[in-house]
Amino acid sequence: MAGNRTFTMLKPDAVEKGHIGAILDQINASGFRIVAMKLTQMTKADAETFYAVHKERPFFGELVEFMTRGPIVAAILEKDNAVEDFRTLIGATNPEDAAEGTIRKKYASSVGENAVHGSDSDENAAIEGAFHFAGREMF
Ligand code: PPS
Repeated sequence: MAGNRTFTMLKPDAVEKGHIGAILDQINASGFRIVAMKLTQMTKADAETFYAVHKERPFFGELVEFMTRGPIVAAILEKDNAVEDFRTLIGATNPEDAAEGTIRKKYASSVGENAVHGSDSDENAAIEGAFHFAGREMF
């Protein structure tokens, strides 16, 4: 059975460009409830741990540098079928391939600077949420 929580980050590019409000508005309007949220900045060690599964990929260094260059908004979201529905809402990793109206189509500028992260499985949603939030910060 699909779980009802996912984890997201509004990435440094989206924060720098002032898109926090618009993106959160679209997330809320799409039926997600925010159960945890904060503005935070990852250290290099944080990003290397968070993205460890990608460490052999050629863009790993670039990804870590990008994700640590400024603040992000980290959040846990609740909705039936949260992981899949949120991935649909944000669109393809590369904004050129993202469907019209999706968050990445509207706010991302490249495959690297793509505005938003969404967990790819229920298991990773739980791991990623616990990476950023203590139990007392989830509501
Ligand atoms: S996905 O969503 O996991 O299937 O996408 P994937 O293509 O595997 O990408 C994993 C994360 O790496 C980022 N990425 C890149 N960063 C920099 N440069 C390039 N070329 C690049 N390609 C992919 C991508 O945005 C994914 O980050 P997250 O935070 O998971 O969205």
